[in-house]
Amino acid sequence: MKIAIYPGSFDPITNGHIDVIERSSKLFDRIIVAVLKNPNKKPLFTVEERIEMIKEATKNIENVEVESFSGLLVDFARMKNAKIIVKGLRAVSDFEYEFQMALMNKKLDSEIETVFIMTNVRYSYLSSSVVKEVAGFGGCIKDLVPPHVEMKLKEKICKI
Ligand code: PNS
Repeated sequence: MKIAIYPGSFDPITNGHIDVIERSSKLFDRIIVAVLKNPNKKPLFTVEERIEMIKEATKNIENVEVESFSGLLVDFARMKNAKIIVKGLRAVSDFEYEFQMALMNKKLDSEIETVFIMTNVRYSYLSSSVVKEVAGFGGCIKDLVPPHVEMKLKEKICKI
């Protein structure tokens, strides 16, 4: 059984993340989307809201589960019996940071491999931060996130 963890902040999930989840769900038996609970970051959405949005976006992919985690990713992976970490790579600018994290995770647990999935070129410019910024200024985010995320973003921004 090949279990893979796809970790991130997902604040909120974008079509770029969904593309990585869909593609990795075909490569591995189980994908656990792991939402980081990070007390040092000030996310727009609560962990529960982020999990709900990811569940809705992936409800038609059978082998996907969504959970939250805190602490070290390798500890969570070990707890879940996962030997694979999936990360998306958009551009060369992502590489340095991802390379550092992959090597650090390897140092922390040599049995865990990080596997990179190149972004679909359609989403290579996409990030949760860019989506939040565009939505915040009233720009169109229709093709960047699923409709339920677009709605949640609009609701959230109206409350700020
Ligand atoms: O979507 P993000 O914010 O780029 O995701 C970053 C994430 C969650 C993958 C990364 O911050 C992480 O793995 N955090 C857990 C803490 C950890 O294990 N750190 C050591 C690896 S450098």
